Amino acid sequence: MPELLATQDPEVAAAIANDVRRQTDEINLIASENYASAAVLEATGSVLTNKYAEGYPGRRYYAGCENADIVETLAIDRVKELFDVEAANVQPHSGSQANMAAYFATLTTGDRILGMQLDQGGHLTHGSPVNFSGKLYNFASYGVLHEEETIDHDAVLATAREFKPALIVTGATAYPRTIDFARFREIADEVDALLMVDMAHIAGLIAGGAHPSPAPYADIITSTTHKTLRGPRGAMILSRRSLARKINSAVFPNMQGGPMVHAIAAKAVAFGEAATPEFRSYAAAVVANAQALAAALSKGGLRIVSGGTDTHMMLVDVSTRNITGQEAEDALRAAGIIANKNAIPFDPLPPRVTSGVRLGTPALTSRGMDAGDMNAVAGFILEAMDAAGNDGGAASIRRRVLDFASKFPVPGIS
Ligand SMILES: Cc1ncc(COP(=O)(O)O)c(C=O)c1O
Repeated sequence: MPELLATQDPEVAAAIANDVRRQTDEINLIASENYASAAVLEATGSVLTNKYAEGYPGRRYYAGCENADIVETLAIDRVKELFDVEAANVQPHSGSQANMAAYFATLTTGDRILGMQLDQGGHLTHGSPVNFSGKLYNFASYGVLHEEETIDHDAVLATAREFKPALIVTGATAYPRTIDFARFREIADEVDALLMVDMAHIAGLIAGGAHPSPAPYADIITSTTHKTLRGPRGAMILSRRSLARKINSAVFPNMQGGPMVHAIAAKAVAFGEAATPEFRSYAAAVVANAQALAAALSKGGLRIVSGGTDTHMMLVDVSTRNITGQEAEDALRAAGIIANKNAIPFDPLPPRVTSGVRLGTPALTSRGMDAGDMNAVAGFILEAMDAAGNDGGAASIRRRVLDFASKFPVPGIS
């Protein structure tokens, strides 16, 4: 329990303490979550939260920004080197805002964008009608092949030729396979479109050399910093030098006010961590663990969408177990395993129910689990799904999950 908060505000302190326990006791398979290091947490919780620093290093609208300049310059320099890009903006507060700024920087509202279909892996900001993207821009979408369940590049090209987008977006929220950035570049060139890569999910794999980099191919790259990259909650935009000015003004003053200097400091720390040999090993282990988990679940009778994974995540078709995605999520939750239901390609069930769950290994790998441990995790998952709706069965699994999880310390939690 945070000591000062416990006295001053026991309700908030109790919620934080309860989440420390929850994060320690449960098996976290949410593909977009991770455990930030103690150093990242310390920077996030620092007094830099007090500072207003509208503008950019050396060009601020407030006095007293010398330390804000230091941390933002460190973050920019480190991330440019990490991803081998010419320019970086580290101010976006979230992945959605990074995408908004990227569109504002390169397009006029009403322009055409080609993005990945939401129910086949794309993100809300890639054209959902309930999101600003689908409201302000004119989207067409591409998806995956029926049989292989991998991106249908021929359809991307055909749609691009017909639709003539100004921008093509690739990158996904729920797609387990390597994205062929070179192929997307070819398609973008053929129709004279810009190419944007939203690498939010796979940024850590790219930094650690476990997924090919979009840097040689993309005009603009957006990313969150809190998923596989294991930094603080936040985002960034990377680009060629020629787009930097437009991107900077699209973020501030166009879309945001003061940057979150504490978060930028924590991003700098995370970029430093991601450049280490230990992080390279981590990124490789995340993928090895995902492949081991997918193999063990498949052996246990579950269907893995596209037959496996090249990344940190897999989509599991739970209909072979005669349950829905929602029932699987609930059954796992009751057993102390946290995951989210997710539509699978061509899902016959509605989004609130679904036929699948999305599982990811970034968080478990940060706790030091290896491919051997994934057999135990797969065992718990299969047992929990069989125990769906049986409270007694779930409680017994939960006790064993707790015992298993307690062997793996959570980074950032002493
Ligand atoms: C591919 C992709 N882009 C953007 C985002 C948005 O990030 P945020 O939740 O920080 O707005 C996400 C989040 O899940 C994502 O998966």
